Amino acid sequence: MALSQPGPSREGWSSRTAFILAAIGSAVGLGNLVRFPAEAGANGGGAFVLFYIGCVILIGLPVLLSETLIGRYGQAAAPESFRRVAEKSGKSPAWEFVASLGVLSAFLVLSFYCVLGGWVLYYIGIFVQDLFTTGVTGGAFADRSVTEVEAIFGAMISDGPMTVILNIAFLVITIAFVARGVSGGIEKVAVYLMPAFFVLLLGITIYGMFRGSMAETISYLFTFDASKLTGPVMLAAVGQAFFSLSLGVAGMVTYGAYVGRNVNLGVTSGVIATADTSVALIAGLCIFPIVFAAGLAPEGGLGLMFQTLPHAFQEIPAGSLIGLAFFVMVGFAALTSSVALMETPTAWVIDRFRFTRPIAATMVTLSAAILGTLCALSTGALSGFHPLGFLPMFEGMGMLDVLDTFTGKITMPVGALLTSIFIGWVANKRLVDSENGLGGGLHVFWRFLVCWLCPIALTAILIVGIFPSILGES
Ligand code: PFF
Repeated sequence: MALSQPGPSREGWSSRTAFILAAIGSAVGLGNLVRFPAEAGANGGGAFVLFYIGCVILIGLPVLLSETLIGRYGQAAAPESFRRVAEKSGKSPAWEFVASLGVLSAFLVLSFYCVLGGWVLYYIGIFVQDLFTTGVTGGAFADRSVTEVEAIFGAMISDGPMTVILNIAFLVITIAFVARGVSGGIEKVAVYLMPAFFVLLLGITIYGMFRGSMAETISYLFTFDASKLTGPVMLAAVGQAFFSLSLGVAGMVTYGAYVGRNVNLGVTSGVIATADTSVALIAGLCIFPIVFAAGLAPEGGLGLMFQTLPHAFQEIPAGSLIGLAFFVMVGFAALTSSVALMETPTAWVIDRFRFTRPIAATMVTLSAAILGTLCALSTGALSGFHPLGFLPMFEGMGMLDVLDTFTGKITMPVGALLTSIFIGWVANKRLVDSENGLGGGLHVFWRFLVCWLCPIALTAILIVGIFPSILGES
């Protein structure tokens, strides 16, 4: 059976570096900067970090390679790529439903992700205003108690018109790149913003090293407390690994479809996973020294970025400037991720309905703006609306939290589980082997991971993680 790639390649990345930067741009985002540090600190420090790194290497990396491989072989939007691999392997084309689920998840994530992106825009605005009014120190958060800083955040998220407009603004910035195509827009945003992101991240971390409390940070982030590694915490770690690596939502299948035949996917997957995990770890080392130096207790969740940090910035020299640099950096990371999130359903609309790219991207944007409006209002006017409140897992959650939990704890791990089964057991072995770019021992190890470890570990973690959550035991 001929296993050559079907059809001619369509538009694609202009170089291997462009693909790597775009994929790292997709991976590095709010997940690394907001969620990882908050979860690591709250869930057992070193034990969580070690478990997380184990998840990335043993589960995330094999799935990342599987996803890019399916995309590169299929050279089409994610469901079509899955179908092509399945058909070439003599299996049912119905396997494309795995990617369809992924495309839907990407759309759901896009809808709430851009709401958070909008909040970042608001904070950038505050710090810019500070620089012009009060200079590099002082400003909106200066000389305020923690409660007052919390009130600024509370006022923003409960201001419906404001959050809706900010959400739309972030979606508009995103579509401005997606509508221009792969090499004309999507790749450009990554090629310019990712290097700028790294410079800002390293600059602020070095600043924190000298000005902040590194010793306290290390003990907070890395002290080993295995007793906190419960089922739900393990599921949270796996979910975080997938969210962070952009897996289980067909995003990497979509980006893989634009990769040329000359790229070694095994090597590039390693580079992407290493960069993403390093940024998550460095983010912790960047954020907590500033928080501890200001004598603040680290909050969990979104409060860490939107309440604790803004307060901490005003306690340190040149706080407004550092604060602005920090939120610009977060904005860059969020944008390169939202571009990937929008591209995944956009590519599907283009392939499925043969619409032009600008029209497809506009349809996705309008739909995300509608769902995003419900998310944006869920922290204010619609805070009493709990769409899945009858299920203990989603009890008391507004639309934003429901979508976050549903994708992070259910659709992403399930999508990744099905992808590993597809590549490990369904797809033709020769086809897979000719695409993965791995040699010798690594190849055998990878096959063991996708065939056995990923399916078994993911099923086990879904069971121990989801059942207590479903039963409301958390
Ligand atoms: N990986 C991104 C983050 O950590 O913020 C989120 C994300 C982007 C998830 C793109 C999925 C995706 F396709």
